[in-house]
Amino acid sequence: MRSSIVFPLSFVLPLFLGSVQAQDSGQNSSSSNSSAYITQWVSALQSTGFNGFADTLTKINGTSPAMELFSQLASGRNFTVFAPDDSAIQQIPSGVSQNTTLLAEYIAYHFVDGDFTNTSYTNSSGSGGGGSSSSSSMSSSTETSTATQSTAALLGRRFGILRRQDGGGNGSSNSSGSSNPQPFAGIWPNVTIGRTLLNASALVALGGNKSQVLAWTRPTPESNVTILNQASGSNNITVVNGTSWQNLFINRINGTLTPPGNLTTALTAINATALQGVLGGLQLPMNGTNGTAVEALQCAKGITFFVPANVAFTAAVNSSLQGLQSNTTALTALVQNHYINGTTLYSTQFDNSTTAVSAAGEPLHFITNATGIFVAGANNSIAQIIRPDVLIDNGVAHIIDQVIFASESDPSQAASAFQSATSAAAAYSTTETGPIGIFGGGTQSTSAQSTSTQSSSSEVQPTTSSG
Ligand SMILES: *[C@@H]1O[C@H](CO)[C@@H](O)[C@H](O)[C@H]1NC(C)=O
Ligand SMILES: *[C@@H]1O[C@H](CO)[C@@H](O)[C@H](O)[C@H]1NC(C)=O
Ligand SMILES: *[C@@H]1O[C@H](CO)[C@@H](O)[C@H](O)[C@H]1NC(C)=O
Ligand SMILES: *[C@@H]1O[C@H](CO)[C@@H](O)[C@H](O)[C@H]1NC(C)=O
Ligand SMILES: *[C@@H]1O[C@H](CO)[C@@H](O)[C@H](O)[C@H]1NC(C)=O
Ligand SMILES: *[C@@H]1O[C@H](CO)[C@@H](O)[C@H](O)[C@H]1NC(C)=O
Ligand SMILES: *[C@@H]1O[C@H](CO)[C@@H](O)[C@H](O)[C@H]1NC(C)=O
Ligand SMILES: *[C@@H]1O[C@H](CO)[C@@H](O)[C@H](O)[C@H]1NC(C)=O
Ligand SMILES: *[C@@H]1O[C@H](CO)[C@@H](O)[C@H](O)[C@H]1NC(C)=O
Ligand SMILES: *[C@@H]1O[C@H](CO)[C@@H](O)[C@H](O)[C@H]1NC(C)=O
Ligand SMILES: *[C@@H]1O[C@H](CO)[C@@H](O)[C@H](O)[C@H]1NC(C)=O
Ligand SMILES: *[C@@H]1O[C@H](CO)[C@@H](O)[C@H](O)[C@H]1NC(C)=O
Repeated sequence: MRSSIVFPLSFVLPLFLGSVQAQDSGQNSSSSNSSAYITQWVSALQSTGFNGFADTLTKINGTSPAMELFSQLASGRNFTVFAPDDSAIQQIPSGVSQNTTLLAEYIAYHFVDGDFTNTSYTNSSGSGGGGSSSSSSMSSSTETSTATQSTAALLGRRFGILRRQDGGGNGSSNSSGSSNPQPFAGIWPNVTIGRTLLNASALVALGGNKSQVLAWTRPTPESNVTILNQASGSNNITVVNGTSWQNLFINRINGTLTPPGNLTTALTAINATALQGVLGGLQLPMNGTNGTAVEALQCAKGITFFVPANVAFTAAVNSSLQGLQSNTTALTALVQNHYINGTTLYSTQFDNSTTAVSAAGEPLHFITNATGIFVAGANNSIAQIIRPDVLIDNGVAHIIDQVIFASESDPSQAASAFQSATSAAAAYSTTETGPIGIFGGGTQSTSAQSTSTQSSSSEVQPTTSSG
């Protein structure tokens, strides 16, 4: 049966009211409302040194993804923005900046649903000058304060309740810390995942037409927030400082964000050459027929792929794999025991009670402890996640240190798990407005029925129904 997660009413209700209010603004007026809103924001950006970003918003004005983006921003909901600084904005590849529709889609990837301001950061920083961050620290939002209190322990562990960074590193930000709010951020290898506004079908293929996510971390508690999965060579894209404007929490970043590419691109980027070799010779089922393994994996609408790093392919493992070469069924099952078909599970969604069903129909369990996060497949085969949350356009890959040596399969379990993942995705109707994972999916219902929140949570934890 599905596990359901019940939210405190005080937590769901304000959001429900919020959505009614948003609908009230009407359709005819909404486009002119959003136009006025964006015009105001553009001039606010210009006056705070975001000239390039302001110009870009003006440039994409009129394209359909931009109109969708603008109307969401003007809806009154809260958003967290990762706004490229002026030198970063010039680095958008010309192939993107010359196509305003594509540019608007890329820009949508810079907006995360929800206010990710870490209010504990501003609150816990002692009495020194909490003044200028008044909106986040004072107005006692039921949503934010309830969520913060009820999950303080979890946030503290996984997202790192921050102390004020005295001097923000090297004394550069002196006493202005309070006017420089910080986003929630896990400390590496813990990450924070937020749902963005990028949902262009050419760039994202997650179940339930969900928007793509953005992942970030702090390499150490002292360092700046670093955006993950950005192929910027040796230069990580980091958050410079933060500010807010109306319903927007704006984080200045020193790069522009590129939406995740396909599986092949990701496997190449992380140098998973040994796994690519295994996949190369294999066919996997793909909507009724067989395709090359890579084609089949890329065809999934939502996937969680446990990718063994090259170190996992020891001589012993390679020799066992060699022994399976003539046994296609076993080799196929072994590969299928490394992914979950139809479901995208980020590392923040794994805890000791999370279970899932692999594409081979075998149970997967997760273990989290002080050492890290582990995935356990059939056959008591356990691997540690050594690099979480490598995002791909149709899901996520987690890099593991061992091959999950399980070639068992249960096709009927696989089919039923896929079926429930597909129907859960179809029923998805939530807006995630906080870090994904803390609330068992970070879901907060904006639809009238809290049951939709629960069914979406079950998608997050597709428990076996064998019991
Ligand atoms: C966007 O276009 C509309 C309609 O042409 C215009 O009224 C508005 O001022 C433009 N907004 C910006 C920020 O360029
Ligand atoms: C937006 O965030 C502010 C500050 O956290 C909060 O007071 C307000 O209630 C939020 N609004 C919505 C619609 O969630
Ligand atoms: C511009 O980008 C959009 C969205 O990705 C795409 O559909 C369209 O074909 C592109 N136009 C050109 C001229 O490349
Ligand atoms: C990461 O999160 C886990 C589980 O919440 C926690 O036990 C661990 O201390 C965290 N690690 C860091 C470096 O924050
Ligand atoms: C970039 O960030 C990642 C994740 O925190 C870290 O492991 C890596 O060392 C960073 N690279 C550089 C060049 O700072
Ligand atoms: C954090 O970012 C600020 C502004 O870019 C920079 O001055 C500071 O050195 C950075 N801190 C670290 C630890 O990298
Ligand atoms: C962003 O700033 C950090 C310092 O905080 C630096 O290490 C990094 O290389 C910069 N990234 C880019 C893309 O310039
Ligand atoms: C953030 O950093 C930029 C560049 O260093 C600076 O111009 C701006 O004033 C800072 N903003 C805040 C709110 O501190
Ligand atoms: C994956 O993406 C790359 C880069 O966009 C592209 O060249 C390649 O054809 C794609 N591969 C597949 C199998 O779609
Ligand atoms: C990729 O992995 C191979 C085999 O482990 C190693 O020899 C090679 O140096 C790695 N390449 C990169 C760019 O890390
Ligand atoms: C089924 O597979 C074909 C490739 O053979 C692909 O073009 C098509 O989009 C797939 N259909 C679905 C619903 O995924
Ligand atoms: C797909 O491959 C499997 C294993 O090789 C085989 O048993 C099955 O008949 C193939 N299915 C189709 C439709 O070709």
